[in-house]
Amino acid sequence: SHLGIDIGTSSVKAVLIGSRQNLIAESSAPLEVDRPRPLWSEQDPESWWTATQSAISALAAAAPSEWDELASIGLSGQQHGATLLDAAGKALRPCILWNDGRSGAECRELLDSVTDFTTRACNTTMPGFTAPKLLWVAKHEPEVFAKTAMVLLPKDYVRFRMSGEYVSEMSDSAGTLWLNVAERRWDATLLAACGLTEAQMPRVVEGSQVSACLSAQVAAEWGLVGRKIPIAGGGGDNACSAVGIGATRAGDGFLSLGTSGVIFTVTDHPVALPERTLHAFCHALPGRWHGMTVALSAASALSWIAGITGAGGDIQGLLARVERFASEPERRAHAPVFLPYLTGERTPHNDPHATAAFAGLCADHGPEALAYAVLEGVAFALRDCLDVLVDAGAAPTSCLMVGGGSRSSYWAQLLADATGLALDVPSSAELGAAFGAARLGMIAAGVREQEVCVKPAIRASFSPDRAAAPLLGERAARMRAMYRSDRRG
Ligand code: XUL
Repeated sequence: SHLGIDIGTSSVKAVLIGSRQNLIAESSAPLEVDRPRPLWSEQDPESWWTATQSAISALAAAAPSEWDELASIGLSGQQHGATLLDAAGKALRPCILWNDGRSGAECRELLDSVTDFTTRACNTTMPGFTAPKLLWVAKHEPEVFAKTAMVLLPKDYVRFRMSGEYVSEMSDSAGTLWLNVAERRWDATLLAACGLTEAQMPRVVEGSQVSACLSAQVAAEWGLVGRKIPIAGGGGDNACSAVGIGATRAGDGFLSLGTSGVIFTVTDHPVALPERTLHAFCHALPGRWHGMTVALSAASALSWIAGITGAGGDIQGLLARVERFASEPERRAHAPVFLPYLTGERTPHNDPHATAAFAGLCADHGPEALAYAVLEGVAFALRDCLDVLVDAGAAPTSCLMVGGGSRSSYWAQLLADATGLALDVPSSAELGAAFGAARLGMIAAGVREQEVCVKPAIRASFSPDRAAAPLLGERAARMRAMYRSDRRG
């Protein structure tokens, strides 16, 4: 069997698959995000390890005989988080996460200090990325910075706890802004701009290579005494999701509706469009890269509106009410317009201070009207994400829809209509990144990539409805104008 672990933002997920990629068991353990100050978003690295341990015990208990046959492990994780360790491997402070917006000033400083920064990194500086976070720590917590002996991404910290080794891989390392993405190696100039050297970076491998083995101590704790189990490099959660749905060739893409919304396209060469916030990263497979754009609030915006309108955990119930509400075209035309920047925005604005708003509210608008506007505003944000990929020459030629939000057929159709993309939803859309990580483990253990990375069965397809385009186009223009006028104010 093969194990995939995804260190997400809201939970750690683990899947165990068989040699035919059949799902044997899955488990998860929740994680908390701390937002101690405006713009801040942090997590205790120890909580990833505790959650991993509990997800693993659940998995081992669910399928004891398959667990005994474990042959490989793959790791996936939320990208960009800055995990700072001292010389003894102890975390020096909470991890500063991908959706933390505190380091806007440091982003500007980095661009000023290295004139060819974006050429080297293939990317522009954004507060979500790792490099500006380290500059923030150097400035605001110099005692922590002085003790920093190693900087790891979230899944690589879990790898360290599993193996005792400091290793990362290309796809996630590209999101630090310290990697020369085109050449797939650390860049001394980019590191020096943050007061760092390569000695504080983990070794990098390809996602499908062996990175390390499970340590004897952890193997014993996990009931695998005496076994030397290889751990694949793995990947950032987006690259792992791509591997999980067989997006391995140029043009293969996906749209993901998780906490954030992502559009991702595989390329066979590095692409770059830093001035439009294109995320230009390595793929988790050798010789390939990907272009990606990110809307920070996606399924999280739906949970938010469900929470404040009293629908709470009954998201499905709320979606059914929205669908009834939106079945009348006049109601859609009269609905409020939502600007979805609840936690700032990356694509296309790179603005951690951007905020959300409703426009056009009337006394007759109830929870369904607000929730409709939220689904639509997120769809418009993803349209903006697609436009950047198109301009970068990295538009997907085929696009699967994944993530929690893909459960809703109504939202899927709205996304197809608002973006103009034909979207296919795989039958196993929710297995996601952990499944992709398990696949990388299989490849690292010796199975051929072509055999492993097959495309999934499709459960449903959504084609853009041309009749919906004029009204949506008009409402998208209102949403964009809301941001512009907010900036002027
Ligand atoms: C990608 C990003 C998010 C996280 C979510 O750049 O920040 O998609 O990877 O886990």
